[in-house]
This record gives sequence, C-alpha cells and structure tokens, in this order.
Amino acid sequence: MRRRRSQIDSLEERPIEARTERTGRSGRSKRAMPKTILVLGATSAIAQAWMRLLAPDGASFFLVARNAAHLDSVAKDLVTRGAAAVYVETSDLDETAAHTGLLERAVGALGTLDCALIAHGVLGDQAAGERDFAVAAGSLQTSFLSPVSLVTWLANYFGRQYHGSLVVISSVAGDRGRKSNYIYGSAKAGLNAFLGGVRNRLDREGVQVLTVRPGFVATPMTAHLPQGPLFATPDAVARDILHAIEHRRDVLYTPWFWRWIMALIRVIPEWKFKKMDL
Ligand SMILES: NC(=O)c1ccc[n+]([C@@H]2O[C@H](COP(=O)([O-])OP(=O)(O)OC[C@H]3O[C@@H](n4cnc5c(N)ncnc54)[C@H](OP(=O)(O)O)[C@@H]3O)[C@@H](O)[C@H]2O)c1
Repeated sequence: MRRRRSQIDSLEERPIEARTERTGRSGRSKRAMPKTILVLGATSAIAQAWMRLLAPDGASFFLVARNAAHLDSVAKDLVTRGAAAVYVETSDLDETAAHTGLLERAVGALGTLDCALIAHGVLGDQAAGERDFAVAAGSLQTSFLSPVSLVTWLANYFGRQYHGSLVVISSVAGDRGRKSNYIYGSAKAGLNAFLGGVRNRLDREGVQVLTVRPGFVATPMTAHLPQGPLFATPDAVARDILHAIEHRRDVLYTPWFWRWIMALIRVIPEWKFKKMDL
C-alpha cells in the first residue's frame, strides 16, 4: 500500500465551544454543523454530495480513498467551494492493520474531530460469491469488517471526547436477506447490529451514532442496474444525512418512504417470502 498525504490548504483554528450551537434562519437554536470532518471512502458519490453541502460553511476535511487522482479532484473541488482545509490520504480500507495509524494521522491533522463518515462499500458479485467463498469473504471484508475496524477506533475516540457524530452508510439491504444480494445484505445487517450496540454504549457519552439506510441511489455502484422511479439522487440522500446529523437521529431511512417499504417487507412471513422472486 502506498501512503500519500498532503495538505491542500491551511487548517482553520477555532475552539470547539464556538461550534456547539448555531441559529437557523427561523431564529431557533440548532445544533452546529460539524467543522472537522473525516471521510472514509471519500470518492463515494454520496459522500461527495454530502461534503459539498458542508464545504461552504468553512469545514475542514481529512479524506481517505484508494484512487489518488479521483481523491485529488474531490479535494480541489471542496477547496473551491470554501473548505477551510482539506487533507488527503490514499489507502485501501480493506487493510484493517493500517487503520490505527491512518486514524491517528487524521486526528493529528485536524486537531479535533466533530464527525466521521464511513461511506465505502461494494455491492459485490452475488452469483460469484455463491460459487466461491473467497469472493463472498472479499465483500464482507470491505462492507463489514473494514467499517467495524474503523468504528471500533472511532467509538473509543469519540467516547473519550464526549462529543461527535459517527455516521455510517449501511443499506436497506440489511433489513432482510434476499436471493439477489444476500452477501451484500448480510454485511449491512451485521453492520446495523454492530452500530446499534455502539450507539447503546456511547449515547451516555454524548456521542451520536447514525446508521444511514439508503434505498436505491443513482451512483457508480448501481450504474449497471435499470434506473426506476425508486432511485434517489446522491444530493437528496446527502441532504437527508445532514438533516439527521443536525437533529441527532439514530437510524435514517433515505428517502423516507424506504422506512415503510422495509416495514412491509419485514412482516412478510418466511413461508411466503422464500417463494418470492426478490
Ligand atoms: N448506491 C446505492 O444504491 C446504495 C444503496 C444503499 C447503500 N449504499 C451504500 O452507500 C455507500 C456509498 O456508495 P455509493 O452509492 O456512493 O457508491 P460509489 O460512488 O460507488 O462509492 C463506493 C465507494 O467505496 C469505495 N471503496 C470500495 N472499496 C474500497 C476499499 N477497499 N478501500 C477504499 N475505498 C473503497 C469506492 O472507491 P473506488 O472508487 O476506488 O472503487 C467508492 O468510492 C456504500 O457503503 C454503499 O454500500 C449505496
């Protein structure tokens, strides 16, 4: 693995206290938007859309992704949009042994951490994974074990700090196993259970743990699928994530109607569900 790190602009130094509250247009007091932000899987289309919402407020970012050229273009775009500072590091996040060093460098560069977004994941090849466990294990490494490793370190960091938002992009696919994508779905189901436990542990420390469960989103991950009316844009999902952070939500279905679609899917009895083509 080649490690690359650079600072795109100088870091804005501001005390945490100055960031705890802000007043919205309505005049009501709202929670502050995060100002020091770590993004794992920063080339994700959803992550990019979310960061574009925060850059104009002068946030500082530490971005991690495995494609250096793509990462640089994302960083430059954020600086253009008003980010106070953008640090980048290339890393294949499957390499969990490198996570501790990576996260320590991120905190060292930003000085503090208000929010971490874990966005990386792979849909994987379901048919190949059914034939070959090594393929399935690769998907589980990226979409389950890697986030679990990152969350383990970040939960301890935020817990000691008594402050912060830990945001992880899971999926509605984790709500019930289906024959078309149960390897991906099981990674996300495991992640949901893990995050539920971490939330239960960290709530009393003042830390938000937000599980994001999008339905279909039009991103490179789903570019091979026929796009139907249920597909959302990354921008719409990003706005929902930001709103959920601001309002200290625990679990976000996005767009909203997926909460009700999945509630219906979960109550279908197994004897009937197993005969359905899903
Ligand atoms: N799109 C949907 O319909 C949908 C629905 C529900 C949940 N989600 C979840 O949303 C999250 C973001 O996905 P997206 O929709 O924004 O798709 P995307 O644009 O394809 O983003 C996926 C990102 O994961 C990165 N990645 C994969 N393996 C990695 C690794 N080993 N190390 C570092 N980065 C790695 C990819 O990097 P490269 O560009 O280098 O491959 C890419 O930036 C994922 O967790 C996904 O499971 C997506």
